[in-house]
Amino acid sequence: MNFEKEISRRRTFGIISHPDAGKTTLTEKLLLFGGAIQEAGAVKSNKIKKSATSDFMEIERQRGISVATSVLAFIYKDKKINILDTPGHKDFAEDTFRTLTAVDSVIVVIDVAKGVEEQTEKLVEVCRMRNIPMIVFINKLDREGKDAFDLLDEVEQKLGLQVTPLSFPIGMGYDFKGIYNIYEKNINLFSGNSKQNIEETIAFDNIDSPELEKIIGEKAAISLRENLELVDGVYPPFEKEAYLNGKLQPVFFGSALNNFGVRELLDCFIEIAPAPRPKMAEERLVKANEKDFSGFVFKIHANMDPKHRDRLAFIKIVSGTFERNTPYLHVRNGKKLKFSSPNAFFAEKKEIVDISFPGDIVGLHDTGNFKIGDSLTNGEELHYKGIPSFSPEHFRYINNADPLKAKQLNKGIDQLMDEGVAQLFTLEMNNRKVIGTVGALQYEVIQYRLEHEYGAKCTYENLPVHKACWVEGNEKDEEFKEFKRVKQKFLARDKHNKLVFLADSQFSLQMTQQKYPNVKLHFTSEYE
Ligand code: G4P
Repeated sequence: MNFEKEISRRRTFGIISHPDAGKTTLTEKLLLFGGAIQEAGAVKSNKIKKSATSDFMEIERQRGISVATSVLAFIYKDKKINILDTPGHKDFAEDTFRTLTAVDSVIVVIDVAKGVEEQTEKLVEVCRMRNIPMIVFINKLDREGKDAFDLLDEVEQKLGLQVTPLSFPIGMGYDFKGIYNIYEKNINLFSGNSKQNIEETIAFDNIDSPELEKIIGEKAAISLRENLELVDGVYPPFEKEAYLNGKLQPVFFGSALNNFGVRELLDCFIEIAPAPRPKMAEERLVKANEKDFSGFVFKIHANMDPKHRDRLAFIKIVSGTFERNTPYLHVRNGKKLKFSSPNAFFAEKKEIVDISFPGDIVGLHDTGNFKIGDSLTNGEELHYKGIPSFSPEHFRYINNADPLKAKQLNKGIDQLMDEGVAQLFTLEMNNRKVIGTVGALQYEVIQYRLEHEYGAKCTYENLPVHKACWVEGNEKDEEFKEFKRVKQKFLARDKHNKLVFLADSQFSLQMTQQKYPNVKLHFTSEYE
């Protein structure tokens, strides 16, 4: 086993998109190339359908699928590819943000007709802030959509990216003839019935050759030449370094459903996408090829079987190798833990593994030791930086509806919060618990899971909060003391015991800021 080689052959990434742009379809086609699945339709969409709000069986079904598709791994041309699932539904955006802490790069899928949509904007913004390398895939070219240049403009403007096309469509929708691959200099002809097949391509070094007319017709040939000239004049040449630093985003066109343009994307991806990147811990930058193991928890999934209360904690390996039955330090609680059956993920299966490498994800059975963001190491005190919490959008008191089950309720709430389902705030004044969520759907999920997994019942009461702000102030400062006294009713602690101000309106937030200029109000939980 060659440690360095194992690292360099790994590509761990996420696919992000607005729901319905084609993420599931693209994932499935990528797995087909890897030979990891045999037929289309094998990857289940974990989309939350609208009806799910009142259909708990649906929620459970989705949760089942979301365990199965959390990590999909396959081998392609000797590269070990790990795809981390990112829910597209906006109510689960926090889940996706956290998963983005564990990817080394992303592919952004955009629908050619709809262009840049809301969820894409939010997710790309997070990637941009973290300089994550991104490749853009414009999907559904078999349908009528926006003009390619207009779309590239839109991507640049709305997403704040600097793009350069590495392929270019020949026609679109009804007239869609194929794709010119700028990167490989060849043409891939669209036959319209290539759904399961891997397309043959025609090498085309010289675009001026009259052969082009013979293959795609005169009109399309002229227009392709013009378009490529424009691409050449307008967009910067592709530079791998710029892409790796998050400064340049290559763009591919295709149709995931027709398996068209997907091989080009994958071939380029394995060549340019980064192997596991160094990760910043609070203490220092940790490189993948360091001998000592370290990793962090980015996702926790509860067992669906209520009889087995254990959970699966997903760890991204940052450095060294993770080995079975070896004691590792759980940095937050200072305990050494050993794992006899760590899971590795392969296509849709999980299996026990003896050794895993940087870039890999291992699933560890957990009886309540882990929280999202926890670090696990060979012994060094490392704390990996995660994504800070953002203010939730909805706030409700949670009340106990069965006095005999108070203990179960508290345990359930604690564990669900560790999983990152929602945020818990405890009011300073009376210790009442407030649950903050990104979407209304989470309240139903929490209520349902508390009952089915913990035997506890809860009710909610609306709390008119506009925003939660994390408060920074000097305990000795008179102004801060007064702020705390006057605003006592609106103060709470988050689960790390940080002070939070629950502002009931934008107006009261502004007034508070004006009145107490030395008390700093932050919109995320981590501030310098
Ligand atoms: P998502 O995971 O991003 O939410 O999207 P998903 O892959 O589920 O695709 C959303 C819809 O778009 C699906 O249709 C899918 O078949 C279709 N689609 C994906 N890629 C292409 C493409 O290249 N061309 C065309 N024309 N359609 C594409 P659906 O009707 O919602 O679902 P289904 O019944 O086909 O599964």
